[in-house]
Amino acid sequence: MRKSRNVTGGTECIQRWGGEDAMTVSIDWKALRSNAIAASKHAYAPYSEVPVGAAALADDGRVVTGCNVENVSYGLGLCAECAVVCALISGGGGRMVALAVVDATGGALMPCGRCRQLLLGHGGPELLIDHAGAPRRLADLLPEAFGPADLERVRREKP
Ligand code: THU
Repeated sequence: MRKSRNVTGGTECIQRWGGEDAMTVSIDWKALRSNAIAASKHAYAPYSEVPVGAAALADDGRVVTGCNVENVSYGLGLCAECAVVCALISGGGGRMVALAVVDATGGALMPCGRCRQLLLGHGGPELLIDHAGAPRRLADLLPEAFGPADLERVRREKP
């Protein structure tokens, strides 16, 4: 498993994983939000006119960003969180530790249902999501989620 490095100037310190992999990661929510706001300026949202930006802190300290990209065939539009996941993987991989998503007001926008599932695959249940109140764990936003353990179980129990 990748090791995280400390990110200084943060407003929140969290302990990631247990045992010898335990690391303390500092999350600078203000910086994440401003990265998300900057990304939202690149949004391609001519159909909904709702620009969205997202920024994630990866477990190696990288900050990856993305914006929504819509399409004339409405259902093909990509959420900002999809772009963040692509940036994470194409920029070297790793896991997300914290994510901020903003709308045009600069306020926190909660990830849609599809994106919650997508984020689970690249941040896990402990991924922290920015919120107007306190940050939320993805596990609380997507309870009883379908995950890799379900695939394993079905494969194991298949007659
Ligand atoms: N959108 C996102 O980018 N992320 C979300 O979690 C919710 C919605 C985008 C999709 C679409 O381009 C616009 O917001 C309006 O729904």
